[in-house]
Amino acid sequence: MMMRKLISSGVAVAGMVMVMAGSSVAMAASSIDEGKAIAFDKKKGNCLACHRIEGGRMAGDIAPPILLMKVRYPDKKALRDQIWDATAANPNTVMPPFGRHHILSDAEVDKVTDFIYSL
Ligand code: HEC
Repeated sequence: MMMRKLISSGVAVAGMVMVMAGSSVAMAASSIDEGKAIAFDKKKGNCLACHRIEGGRMAGDIAPPILLMKVRYPDKKALRDQIWDATAANPNTVMPPFGRHHILSDAEVDKVTDFIYSL
């Protein structure tokens, strides 16, 4: 009887751990998807106006294509900083300072960063 209880609670714990692991994976994936939607939305990031990004259509070509971001930005925070305020790195850039000018919220900048970092 005791043994059975132990086994069943062990199974329950294992089940919970799996559910938790599963939901964190799902969260990361949906953050990337949401970031992609924000990046491609003409009223939000509108990154495609200037950048070629995989999966985007009718992209502009006045800025470098967004690819290999993990190689370009080993430090993810530097990528977030670029999206938050591109004028910090280049005062003459035409890229809008999305965070500083409240074009995107903090959470939106995080999601766009997650998406861009996955490219
Ligand atoms: C109006 C045009 C424009 C828009 C819109 C724009 N960018 Fe940019 N972006 C640029 C330009 C131009 C550069 C080149 C660097 C510079 O100007 O300092 C750049 C550079 C970058 C870089 C650095 C690329 C590298 O290889 O170092 C990233 C990352 C980036 N943009 C992300 C984004 C994201 C994400 C969005 C949308 C949320 C976006 N940009 C929207 C014009 C734009």
